[in-house]
Formats: sequence, structure tokens, C-alpha cells
Amino acid sequence: MLSREENNMLTQTGKGTPMGELFRRFWLPALLSEEIPSADCPPVRVKLLGESLIAFRDSNGTPGLVDAYCPHRGAPLFFGRNEECGIRCVYHGWKFDVDGNCVDLPNSPEGETYKDKVRVKAYPCFDAAGMVFAYLGPQDPPPPPPGFDWMDLPDDRTYVRKYHLRCNYMQAMEGDYDPSHGAFLHMTRDRAMPGTIQDASPALGALFGDQRFMRMSFIFDETDFGMRQISLTPESGGTTMALVNNYFFPTFTSAGIAGPGVYCSNMRIPIDDESCYMYRFRWSYEPFTEHQRNQDRFGGFTYPEQIPGSFMAVENKDNDYNVDRLLQKNFSYTGIKSFPIQDLALVEDQWGPRADRSREHLVRTDESMIRVRQRMLKAARELQEGQEPAGPNNPKAFRTHSVRTSLPSDLTNAEIMERMKELSVGPTYGPGVHAV
Ligand code: FES
Ligand SMILES: [Fe+2]
Repeated sequence: MLSREENNMLTQTGKGTPMGELFRRFWLPALLSEEIPSADCPPVRVKLLGESLIAFRDSNGTPGLVDAYCPHRGAPLFFGRNEECGIRCVYHGWKFDVDGNCVDLPNSPEGETYKDKVRVKAYPCFDAAGMVFAYLGPQDPPPPPPGFDWMDLPDDRTYVRKYHLRCNYMQAMEGDYDPSHGAFLHMTRDRAMPGTIQDASPALGALFGDQRFMRMSFIFDETDFGMRQISLTPESGGTTMALVNNYFFPTFTSAGIAGPGVYCSNMRIPIDDESCYMYRFRWSYEPFTEHQRNQDRFGGFTYPEQIPGSFMAVENKDNDYNVDRLLQKNFSYTGIKSFPIQDLALVEDQWGPRADRSREHLVRTDESMIRVRQRMLKAARELQEGQEPAGPNNPKAFRTHSVRTSLPSDLTNAEIMERMKELSVGPTYGPGVHAV
């Protein structure tokens, strides 16, 4: 259980808040690259950590992320003209480049000199793996991008879609560190039940009566990237199943392995304190096969259908996620069809959109989630006291991924940790750490 004060610290990410400042030390996905698909395309509105911004792509194809409002008299730059390497406010014609410089101030005789004194707030950006990453923090020049394996992969090995969630980022993320929920929320009577995740990906979800999580134990290791977590489950042949499920600052999870050679990462990025985007990301060291495309990308189970023109799932809070009570009586625990929508239905309303964790009653199987909270609060407090997190300037620390393997059951925790660390480093692609 957290105190009210700790809960506020964990869930508030506006500018100047302790967690908001921690978030601003890291590169974050601000939008999908395809939202600004080409040079000089229309600008789009972006709300990120409570800040109202405009994203555009200049004539060179460089992404830009600037204040939503013009510094002259506060007109919305959303209506701006994106032309000749800059966004031009249509109220009086002031123009800004992706770095925030005023490059034209045409409505006044002193414009030629005064423009050098005017700037619009602008955040550095780059494209990687289908996303535009932005840095909202104080370091100038910004820190190098995190060295995730997937940052440099070719397009045929990554896939991402984003979803609009109507809840605080933290309750959306905590589900990835909640080992017992899968054996309830995601449970069906029959793996072959049509229209369920078990039907599409038998390795996922659980059957009624599956109690593996009760025998699970954990090893935790605090790192510069966040926290390495290894879950250990005894297996019937005298071995132990070990699974690495990392937490990466500030809010990236390595959500296990979706299938042979396909890794998952979920990123919950605050829009404000009561809503977030979830970037649902899959990657592989090999090009995706047609089979993987069908199951993991377009099957509707891991990527639920969205309302056209929005990032909102078709099955959402407004229609009670299309819960089917007959299905619930006879086949599935929830009566909600797809895996992510099952999660969505529960996390969007935990005492409301921003849960008050001082009201919780936690148990032993909540340990993994508790550790993540503690890691985040510790880093936020350290930053408040002037100690910068080490991760942003140690990008190589992020070059590690999920692993699942069987190990002899007589290994010590230190030996398990060493073995899993070695297995968590994969082949690298491209120039190494992505260059801005
Ligand atoms: S308000 Fe933008 S140019 Fe005047
Ligand atoms: Fe879940």
C-alpha cells in the first residue's frame, strides 16, 4: 500500500512534478511516424505529459514537436502552413523551424532583427521503429537515445500500434507486473474456443484451474535501465522455468515473448494524468513470417480493431467492452473476447481513472508490481534531491530483452541472474545506438 502522497508522486507527470521530471529525463514515443507521413504534411495535435504540442514533418522529412501555441499572441499552430522547412502561424505569418527558431516575422518592420529574439518551445525528435521519439528534458544537447535492440531494426522486423486508454499510465502498466491476473482475467474453459486469444496463440492465457503463478518466485536486480525481473516457476521434470520481464525507465515494459523469436514491449505514455497512449510493440531479429503477421499483427487478438480515425478500440468503456454474459457463463472468465480488451476493461476503472493506492490490500503475488513502484519512486525522489538517473547517459544498458528458458533447479539466484543476463543480449543491427 502506498501513502496518498506516494500515490500522487507516482501518478502525476505534469511539468515540475517529481515523476514528471523523471519522465522528462528519457526519450519518449510522442506519436507514430505514420501520423506525420511525409515532408510538409499537415501538422497534428499531440498532448504529452500534460503539454499541448504540435507535431509536423518539415520539407527535409525531419520531425518537429513544438508548442501548440504561437509565441506572438497565442494562436493555435495546428492551423499553420507547413511549408519550406517550417510551420507558419496563419494569424500573422510568423514561421518557426523544427528547432524552435523564428525564421520569418513578416508583419512588422522590426521583424528582421526581432525574429532572432523569439523562439517557440521545441523538443528534439527522431524516428525509430515506426515511432517519433521526443526528449522533453533539460539536457542540452539531449542524451543519446536508449540502446534498445529494436531501435535499429529494419521495418520488416518491427510493428507498432497505439491505443488511447482512458486511465492513468500507471494502472495500465501495472498489469504487466501482475502474474496472478492472467490465471483469472484471461482464462477460458477451452483453448480451442473460437474468438479467444487461446485459440490464436495457445501459449497465451490460461485454462480454468491453472494455478502456476502460486508456485512462482522472483529475483530482482536494480539496474541503470530500471529493473531486471526474473520469475521462476518449478516444472514437472525437476527443472525451473525462468522468464526475464524487465522494467525500463520510465514506462516501458518487456512484456515477455509472443511466439518463437517475437518479443513484446508495451509503452504507456501519459497524455495527462487520467489518460495515456499505449504503444503496443512487437519486434523480431528476423523478418516477420506471414504466420506471425496473421497472429500477432492482424488477428485482432493482440491488436484489437479501432474506431476509424481514432486510436480508441471499438470495444471500449462506452459499450462495456461488449461483455457477453452468455460467454462468461459458459466459456470465458470475463465474457470479454480479446486479451487486451480484457485488460482494458479492468484497468480503465480502478476506483476511477487514477487509482488511489492508499486504499489497496496487497498480497504476496503483488510483489513484482510493488517492486516496480518502489524503483520508480526511488528514482523520482533521488532526482528531486539533485541526483540525475544514470540510464539516459548509459544507452547500452537498455540493450537487453526478454528470455524464457528451462534451468536446472539447483542453481543459486546469483547463477540464475548471470545466466539470464547472458541470454538477454541479442544480435545487434545497424550502427549500434541509433543516431539522432
Ligand atoms: S499569433 Fe501567430 S503570428 Fe500572430
Ligand atoms: Fe493481462
